[in-house]
Amino acid sequence: MALVPCKEILNEAMKKGYGVGAYNVNNMEQIQAVMMAAKMTQSPVIIQASRGALKYFDLTYFKYLVKAAVIENPDIPIAIHLDHGNSLELILKALNIGFTSVMIDGSLMEDGKTVSTYEYNVKVTRSVVEYAHSLGVSVEGEIGTLGGLEDNNMGSGSIYITDPQEAKNFVNDTNVDFLAIAIGTSHGAYKFKNVANIDFNTLKKIRSLIDIPIVLHGASSISKDLIYEVNKYGGKVFGTSGMPISLLQKAIKFGVSKINIDTDGRLAVTAAIRKFLIENPEKFDPRDYLGYARTVLSDLIASKMKAFGTLGHANDYVVGK
Ligand code: G3H
Ligand code: 13P
Ligand code: ZN
Repeated sequence: MALVPCKEILNEAMKKGYGVGAYNVNNMEQIQAVMMAAKMTQSPVIIQASRGALKYFDLTYFKYLVKAAVIENPDIPIAIHLDHGNSLELILKALNIGFTSVMIDGSLMEDGKTVSTYEYNVKVTRSVVEYAHSLGVSVEGEIGTLGGLEDNNMGSGSIYITDPQEAKNFVNDTNVDFLAIAIGTSHGAYKFKNVANIDFNTLKKIRSLIDIPIVLHGASSISKDLIYEVNKYGGKVFGTSGMPISLLQKAIKFGVSKINIDTDGRLAVTAAIRKFLIENPEKFDPRDYLGYARTVLSDLIASKMKAFGTLGHANDYVVGK
């Protein structure tokens, strides 16, 4: 049994100074790609599903696909994490099907768009922490808000950089296991108007004030190569920008342990399918192009695992505890 609470993976990463990618999935091939990369690099892994992903999958399919990933990979520590949970109702559904970790994003109201008050955030987060901890499930909270409405219609659309003292109070007031902070990144493929600009001073201050793992959302790199591939084969994705790997490595050095990646996976799959179908116009078997996309995605994730320092750390845990 390789399922572990996210807290175990992240506490170990924080102790040893590496980062662990949390990869968003929406279908079977993406789950398989993440597991292929974890196996290839012998890395611990966090698979995460947003509420939109769970709606698309259907909870029962997700539950059994994850079960299959665990059975097929007994030696890899796997945490299953709910990304941006917005209500107690959704959290309960996730706990019911065996998530080992949940995020309650109380930085926004239940609509996922309106910025909430500190008091609301503490109240909703604390109630989730109390219940999840009674089941041995770890909890991610968020203080400060990310921007990034452009391509997935999620978030407030504005960035409110986390106040370090508020982060400290929030950890004390809620007892969360790890904390998402806002230091300038945003969700989606359009993160920065000009060059990537991260508030490392705020990160350093927060790191010095709290003693739990820190989470960076909006951490896709949106590489020029990936965008070039998408557009070369008919895509029209322009004006993008992301978090370069070098800045992510700096963020890990200054104390980030969990790195959320969704958009890069979407781009890699789209580029691969576009390329495959253009180069092989006579093919029409979904196994051909989905299989190709799965390999491309797994290579991309393996390269991130190496860059974040997760490589070879699968054995840091006693699996099955
Ligand atoms: O942080 C948000 C993720 O990118 C999830 O996006 O709600 O479109 O699945 P989604
Ligand atoms: P990206 O849009 O940069 O991939 O961020 C994903 C994320 O933060 C999921 O919670
Ligand atoms: Zn996020």
